[in-house]
Amino acid sequence: MTAARRPAGKGTAVLILAAGQGKRMKSRLPKVLHRVGGRPMLESALECAAALKPARTVVVIGHQAEAVRAWVGDRAEIALQDPPRGTGDAARRGLKGLSGFRGIVVILSGDTPLVRVETVERLVAAHGASGATVTLAAARLADPTGYGRVVRGPDGAVTGIVEERDATPGQRRISEINTGLYAVEAEFLGRALAELSADNAQGEYYLTDIVGAAVAAGRPVHALAVEADEVQGVNSRADLARVEGLMRARTCRRWMEEGVTVLDPSRTWIDATVTIGPETVLAPGVWLEGATVIGAGCSIGAGSRVAASRLGDGVVVKDYCVIEEAELEDGASVGPFAHLRPGSVLRKDARVGNFVELKKVELGVGSKANHLSYLGDAVIGSHVNIGAGTITCNYDGVKKSRTVIEDGVFVGSDSQFVAPVRVGKGAVIAAGTTVTEDVPADALVIGRTAQVIKPGWAKRKRQESKDRRGGSRTGGVRRAATARTSYKGE
Ligand code: UD1
Ligand code: CA
Repeated sequence: MTAARRPAGKGTAVLILAAGQGKRMKSRLPKVLHRVGGRPMLESALECAAALKPARTVVVIGHQAEAVRAWVGDRAEIALQDPPRGTGDAARRGLKGLSGFRGIVVILSGDTPLVRVETVERLVAAHGASGATVTLAAARLADPTGYGRVVRGPDGAVTGIVEERDATPGQRRISEINTGLYAVEAEFLGRALAELSADNAQGEYYLTDIVGAAVAAGRPVHALAVEADEVQGVNSRADLARVEGLMRARTCRRWMEEGVTVLDPSRTWIDATVTIGPETVLAPGVWLEGATVIGAGCSIGAGSRVAASRLGDGVVVKDYCVIEEAELEDGASVGPFAHLRPGSVLRKDARVGNFVELKKVELGVGSKANHLSYLGDAVIGSHVNIGAGTITCNYDGVKKSRTVIEDGVFVGSDSQFVAPVRVGKGAVIAAGTTVTEDVPADALVIGRTAQVIKPGWAKRKRQESKDRRGGSRTGGVRRAATARTSYKGE
């Protein structure tokens, strides 16, 4: 993504149109904050804008302005458009925010997240090279329904853009569409926007009318052809799903080019914010979310979800794990069916196995918790063995407390640690122990009821129950129930 990056310099300003209501989404969330590739659509436009290193960037907001403003933060200036009266009106508000700017204004939509940085850069370069007053990005779509069509004269020159709802049946057959991405000379833009009329099917001020206005004024207009995949706008939830699919496919392709094996790209979700090292293998159904960093030579098993986590090199995540805000150092191994909750840290070569849940736990170098455990609010040293079914009792109903298990401790199966509690280096916890007090280093601790053996008891009981059954006339179900209850209280 970096090779062809060419900053457009000081003469460029960016307007991002993001004030629309997005009625067709039927959502309480502003349309531009709906996520594609794991991040709000608006983020893609902000990324494209930033790549141009513009003198100014203005985001035009209106519908649910505060939510959008909060997302933008200090990354751009804000212009308010209230009420939303069309893209032309939005651009007018934005340009007002740019007060007196002279140069090239690049206009982006907040609802076309597939537009790539390279394409915006290409648009600006083409605009400069052609000397056009207006440059628009156009694409040919197999199904152009819903988009504004690019109208050309007999000589092939662009004469204007007509919105679908204003188009004649003949114009609707045009497959070349307007993507909503433009580079325009600021002075011309100001004049053209001032003269827009809302005399159209939607009663709105159309930004697209500046193209016809430029042609009428004898100013050169250039249409830059861009990939159909890039221009898909999101107006409905169905569009959102389609665009999401295209974005996911693109992200998978990118990582495959970087040396990552993606066994089934159609079933692999990698957020735009994730990075993955080479020789890592992703099984079907993997979902990598948020600011996740995966090292080289890792293997992520089927159906596993890794969110906002850091994985070193050679980490193995087996099938069906959920890993959130965790850190796994080189060679660590997790799963299948493990849940690492926020604050879990697995040091080098540590292992977490089947049906183990971790929360705010550090598991030291080479330590293992392989089966059926809950470990929360604990610091576990290196080379510790946590036996099957071990539980840290970290919550007393009021507050959380910590368990500390030092290096080389052996924890037998089915043990509990009633926190706060500390176990010294090299201690051994016998299976079935409830540890309530600190254990000194190298000690053995056993805390379980003594075993009682009653010789012959089981055999005797079986015989008694058999005798009863022989003398009874009741049905099988009833007999079984009687036999069971007869053990009670023994
Ligand atoms: C627009 C174009 C159409 C193009 C399509 C590409 C116009 C008139 N039409 O149509 O030619 O094919 O995009 O996706 O420009 N917005 C505002 N304020 C408003 C209205 C919209 O800020 O008053 C913003 C929206 O938030 C959105 C963008 O402008 O991010 C596009 O608006 P939308 O209503 O989706 O335009 P389309 O009908 O898709
Ligand atoms: Ca749109």
